[in-house]
Amino acid sequence: MSAVAEPHRVPSRSSLPVPPDLDIDPYSNEVLSNPYPFFDRMRETAAIVRLSRYGVYVTGRYEETKIILNDHDRFTASAGIGIADIRKPGKFRIPNRLLENDPPGHTAIRGTLTKILSPIVIRRWREHFEAEAAVFADRIIEMKDVNGVDDVAEAYVLKVFPGVVGVDLPRTEALAIGEMSFNQAGPENELHVAAVRRAEPYLDWYERSVQREAMLPGSIGEMLFEAEDRGEFEPGIASNICRAFVRGGMDTTVAGIGFALLQLARDPDQWAILRADPSKARGAFEEAIRHESPSYVNYRTTTRATELSGFALEADTKIGIFSGAANRDPRFWDNPTKYDITRDTAGIHMAFGFGTHSCIGQMIARLEAECLLRALAMRAKSIRLMGEPRYRLINQLHTLDTLPLRIEA
Ligand code: HEM
Repeated sequence: MSAVAEPHRVPSRSSLPVPPDLDIDPYSNEVLSNPYPFFDRMRETAAIVRLSRYGVYVTGRYEETKIILNDHDRFTASAGIGIADIRKPGKFRIPNRLLENDPPGHTAIRGTLTKILSPIVIRRWREHFEAEAAVFADRIIEMKDVNGVDDVAEAYVLKVFPGVVGVDLPRTEALAIGEMSFNQAGPENELHVAAVRRAEPYLDWYERSVQREAMLPGSIGEMLFEAEDRGEFEPGIASNICRAFVRGGMDTTVAGIGFALLQLARDPDQWAILRADPSKARGAFEEAIRHESPSYVNYRTTTRATELSGFALEADTKIGIFSGAANRDPRFWDNPTKYDITRDTAGIHMAFGFGTHSCIGQMIARLEAECLLRALAMRAKSIRLMGEPRYRLINQLHTLDTLPLRIEA
């Protein structure tokens, strides 16, 4: 990795410096399998740096992350939350009508969704999630040696999430679609191309699954189509939002639960705190996604030439917001690399985004994780790491591939 702290080009009429260049590829296998040295380097180089390889700006600092995510007027989401500008010829794809849409268009859709995803609706799922978590925890303890990803996090999410979102999610299809969407958000590298190829046989299935007639009864997906019938959404929005829920809600939650299991297995003191008080399960999850953030980067695009933290930014340029790095910014966090389930970080960390587009499914993710981790803490005496965990390399998702664990009562 080499860094060049030389200015590249000064936009006309600005006396401010431009962000320094950094010649690191965050989408290389090396960085994807361990992004933390890159995060440190990016944060320490400057508040904003320019990745010379891609011609995009990036930030890994907490303060700048908050500013950008809260200012759609200067930093639009409508050019796509991935590295490519989806408005440009050859890059076009149908935008996510919620996430890749600025106010006022976003406000109306989000308002209706907020009513649908009310705390009362979410609470109704609790009983079901708890019952499933109890069955799961018993089975896992019986198995004793498990892969924390396939056998625990993934199996549990694939059991409870389809009923909520309304889309039947067979494992092979669901994993291929998830990998495709998070890889597609990154550059057209080998990971991107291979994931699109692997998902091709399932695209028809996916298209059918997010239609009205496929919705599972009693689900939020069904409620979206009912809202569309009442004229609260324009035609086509319900299906588009269902897609956003499947893409945004499945792999991210699996990753977050996987990271919680990994840290609890690594740190017997934290496990002991959780066992002594299983109501800390929510904190264990929240801290896991601060410590290792699944959705670790999303992009915005400058709407005009502007200034940020003393740097001149060009118009119409992508800016990557590395919330995974902001969540470890020592300017904001004490001892940021320490996993500490007693930290009170809900609403403070950036793992669920911030501002206009902050994650609308966060209560669901929290509820899933909390039920599962609490059920395990109430039954298991120990959780131990039995080998090196492996990361799954995906362009815009930080997640585990294998997590060998021994969980004993
Ligand atoms: C641990 C689990 C999750 C993580 C880490 C996560 C992360 C995020 C992040 C970082 C954003 C903001 C992206 C941006 O600003 O560019 C976001 C937005 C969103 N998430 Fe999540 N998410 C999770 C679970 C879920 C679930 C369970 C659902 C659906 C049921 C969901 C649906 C969405 C949607 C629809 C948005 C867009 C909101 C908007 O634009 O107003 N997410 N999520």
